[in-house]
Amino acid sequence: MILDNLTPVGLDPILSLSAACRADDRPHKVDLGIGVYRDSHGETPVMVAIKMAEARLLEHQTSKAYVGMAGNESFNESMINLLLGESKAKARAVGVQTPGASGALRMLADVIKMSTPDATVWLSDLSYANHAPIMKTAGLNVRYYPYFDPETKLVQADAMLAALREAGKNDVVLLHGSCHNPTGADIDLDTWKNITTLAVSQGFLPFVDMAYQGFGDGMDEDAAGLRYLVDRVESMVIASSCSKNFGLYRERTGIAVVVGKTLEQAQAVKSRIMESARGTYTMPPDHGAALVDMILRDTSLRTNWQSEVSSMRQRVQTLRTLLADALREKSGTQDWEFIKHHKGMFSVLGITAEQAQAMRNDHAVYLVDSGRINVAGLQESQVNSVANALLKVTAG
Ligand SMILES: Cc1ncc(COP(=O)(O)O)c(C=O)c1O
Repeated sequence: MILDNLTPVGLDPILSLSAACRADDRPHKVDLGIGVYRDSHGETPVMVAIKMAEARLLEHQTSKAYVGMAGNESFNESMINLLLGESKAKARAVGVQTPGASGALRMLADVIKMSTPDATVWLSDLSYANHAPIMKTAGLNVRYYPYFDPETKLVQADAMLAALREAGKNDVVLLHGSCHNPTGADIDLDTWKNITTLAVSQGFLPFVDMAYQGFGDGMDEDAAGLRYLVDRVESMVIASSCSKNFGLYRERTGIAVVVGKTLEQAQAVKSRIMESARGTYTMPPDHGAALVDMILRDTSLRTNWQSEVSSMRQRVQTLRTLLADALREKSGTQDWEFIKHHKGMFSVLGITAEQAQAMRNDHAVYLVDSGRINVAGLQESQVNSVANALLKVTAG
């Protein structure tokens, strides 16, 4: 009978790590696993700008009627402005609101599959844990380009560009807009320019995933590479998330943006995304998008929000400096300086799975086996003990 063939699969490793940390009764435990921002009290608070927007929404909302397959069109326009700034390409860009960036990744993968069934998506090695599953579930082939240099813990741009010279018209190259997950190692503007040259000459489709705009160097700074690219390529697609920079994780708020050769082409692709949405969840949840749109269009709410994002960014940067400095002083080496150069919430430390397990078992410091830490999960008071633990498990 149907259903008889299904055996259970394990929990997502990052979510099960969080559960294991919660169950750990050692008082000094540290959760550097799951990718949510935490403040200096270890909380993931609702942002003040969001609370203010929610109060207004509650007062003024008059209907809960359906919004439509593309979601909130005013939100779509606001998000395109946030992503693309003054780029000329906005004239040929359209958006579809999606359930988080995850929904955008999947909807865009679906239309790529519709258009080019044998397309291959190139992912960075390493990449966000859900990129390959989403692309493969949509029926696309997946290949990897070299990205993270285990020696320097930075991007190996030459090897990356050499590999992408093989990508052609049936290929999609997925790039992280800023704050690379999991590594924290970002490509610089020169590399964005080189990728642009390759995209133009070889005709592959750039696909930018922007999940942390504002967490690296600033709202516009984090979009500089994307904005350079978008004005020079014929077409591209973008998935963007409001989970982190608006703290709207569970509200599932994101957007799929299509930049076409022409506006008409972009609109044709949009209609196909809506067709695909119709065949899955039909339309995205409204609440988060209504809040984001209100904040982006209201000067005072927007100022409030920008300064909250700046504080989050600065907290992560301070923690990076504290941790790298503690490791330098205790080890007497420069081996951990890369932690300061990484951007956003994550860093891959270049430790082995066994060392990551020893961090958990012997020191109650929870991080994923890939050696990724969520820097925002750290409290200032824990920096010393985490640095000691890292030096112990990596000694010899
Ligand atoms: C690179 C990247 N893309 C997409 C997502 C998915 O975000 P969302 O919660 O908006 O679905 C994440 C979430 O961690 C991410 O890190």
